[in-house]
Amino acid sequence: MSSVEIPRETWATRIGFIFAAVGSAVGLGNIWRFPFQVGQEGGAAFLVMYLLFILAVGFPAMLVEFVVGRYTERNPVGALREIGSGAWRYVGWIFIATGFVILSYYSVVAGWTIRYTVLGLQDGYLADAAEAEAQFVTLASGLDAIVLHALFMAAVILIVGAGIKRGIELAVTVMVPAIIVIVVGLAVYAATLEGAGDAYAYYLSPDLGVIAANWTSILPAAAGQAFFTLSLGMGVMITYASYLGEDRNLAEDGAIVIGFDTAIAFVTGLIVFPILFTAGVDPADPGAGAIFVSLAAAFGDLTLGWLVGAVFFGTVAIAALSSAISLMEVVVSYVVDEHAVDRRVAALAIGGGIFVLGIPSAYDLVLLDLFDLFADQILLVLGGLLLAILVGWILSDLAVEELSLGIGDLGGYGTAWIWAVRIPVVLVLIVALVLGVLDYLE
Ligand code: PFF
Ligand code: NA
Repeated sequence: MSSVEIPRETWATRIGFIFAAVGSAVGLGNIWRFPFQVGQEGGAAFLVMYLLFILAVGFPAMLVEFVVGRYTERNPVGALREIGSGAWRYVGWIFIATGFVILSYYSVVAGWTIRYTVLGLQDGYLADAAEAEAQFVTLASGLDAIVLHALFMAAVILIVGAGIKRGIELAVTVMVPAIIVIVVGLAVYAATLEGAGDAYAYYLSPDLGVIAANWTSILPAAAGQAFFTLSLGMGVMITYASYLGEDRNLAEDGAIVIGFDTAIAFVTGLIVFPILFTAGVDPADPGAGAIFVSLAAAFGDLTLGWLVGAVFFGTVAIAALSSAISLMEVVVSYVVDEHAVDRRVAALAIGGGIFVLGIPSAYDLVLLDLFDLFADQILLVLGGLLLAILVGWILSDLAVEELSLGIGDLGGYGTAWIWAVRIPVVLVLIVALVLGVLDYLE
């Protein structure tokens, strides 16, 4: 409990929370990470597993975070201290650590998107794959990358420092509708490209044999991606729901957030793969940087590609910003709640710390990949797993009661939800964690 009682802010409007949660969910996870995971993990087969995990694991797990946040009205550390006993009291720290690590490299990647927006507008993109690759290596690591990482973190600090209503809510109310409109527009454009047909075939007709043969890598990747894309396992949804009133229907809000996030990821595939296929670029090229290189080269090849590319990368930058503020809010809310530090001071200090932690990723792409793998396949799965065990197995009565506020009698749905958390969510996360650790150690 905090020693000093400062009145806690709440969202100004009903839609404000939805925008903020959608803004958090829709980010680099959809527009950068999702397509390269699809490419790396075998195309449509990955898509099928991913959609399955979103429904069976992501949805129940999101409600877990919503319930914990709204019940405690606290940041993740304070929330776990309130509902947990014994060692459970410290689980909140995993979320803070995850937030720090993820945002540190996420901001570096966001910096690349800013650079590639400017690149399109200034010089256009290089069509030659080898040249595009060489250019990426220069731009994506070293001093350039550090400066852009700093710039992006500065924007995050400004918004989060301004508070819930005047900062975060205002920002997402502008950004989220813009992202949706532009992404849909780009998909329509991509449908007119010559490679669209082949791309759809690759993206949309799953070869289930691929799943059977590669499940040890597809399963953790799909589970990790489902969590990452929905901003789960990072304490974001706990934090955002903590600013919420009791009259809200959490199940409905969760369904809306998941619907938008999944739609944007799916539609991004309809943009990225036609562009790659039209330019003759192999989507299976792995790695965090590859999608920048392949897309830039493809944009270099297309008529008016510089413009489409700038719009594309600019949108990705905005989506990254609306996500990054949510992750920063996890850590800032902790310091503001528990230590009564002024919000602006907290934002500046924490943002500065995250900037420093991101410097290695901005210097070396190999380190960035390692940070990403560690955070995505281990840290956030661990946080999500522990929370699911606590809420599903230990605090289920309290959780069902909290979920029912704003909905009414849940009937059998309350029980169904708890059992979904107890068995599928916990099992999938355990398997994903074990495979993720093995993969990491390889
Ligand atoms: N849901 C976000 C995404 O898909 O990009 C995940 C995320 C990552 C949120 C990093 C916030 C963040 F800072
Ligand atoms: Na997402």
